[in-house]
Amino acid sequence: MEADFWHERWDTNQIAFHEGAGNALLTKHFAAHFPKPGARVFLPLCGKTRDFAWLMAQGRRVVGAELSATAIDQLFAEMDLTPEVTETGDGLWYRGPGIDVYVGDIFRLTRAALGPVDVVYDRAALVALPPDMRARYVSHLMEITGTAPQFLICFDYDQKEMPGPPFSVPDVEVKAHYAGSYTVSRIDRKPVEGRLKGQVDATENAWLLR
Ligand SMILES: C[S@@+](CC[C@H](N)C(=O)[O-])C[C@H]1O[C@@H](n2cnc3c(N)ncnc32)[C@H](O)[C@@H]1O
Repeated sequence: MEADFWHERWDTNQIAFHEGAGNALLTKHFAAHFPKPGARVFLPLCGKTRDFAWLMAQGRRVVGAELSATAIDQLFAEMDLTPEVTETGDGLWYRGPGIDVYVGDIFRLTRAALGPVDVVYDRAALVALPPDMRARYVSHLMEITGTAPQFLICFDYDQKEMPGPPFSVPDVEVKAHYAGSYTVSRIDRKPVEGRLKGQVDATENAWLLR
């Protein structure tokens, strides 16, 4: 998916991927596996997810990367925060207490600009990308985070039944991307309620990458 596709989604408010109550697999599992207070959690392709607020309420620091300034304006407004906005050689950043968000193409984000990352939380990031972009994303994500541990959420469904996004990223593909660098374990799976986009039976899988 090219940048224009996503900008149009945000500009026309076609954001069915946005979960109004945050992600149930995150709230069920994250704290047990990543208990460290003050840990800095990176949310790639973050949109305006409510998961920022949940992680911050758990005492974690958060850092996001998102193409759309519209999304990040809405994120800060909905959290009742006024961001400090800076644009330097490190890109465009929105910052508040315990939250930093890079607004731009994640493929232009460097490890130095991102800073230290304790955990990656990938929900609807890997699955947002078409097959030819996923390998590039995986290798860039590991590079900029120093192969930080990950809490990863993926959809698995019959790709012939529906085009993405979100794309199906089945177990075999998760392992193909990550098993060379991490110990990869699936810790939960649940059916998508009401079918994915109302069109196809799908499961939502939660993975730990250590
Ligand atoms: C499917 S949405 C998921 C958003 C969020 N993770 C969530 O769970 O609600 C994918 C997001 O990635 C953003 N995005 C797509 N390509 C990107 C890129 N190359 N760099 C940064 N953000 C990107 C889109 O604008 C969109 O908000």
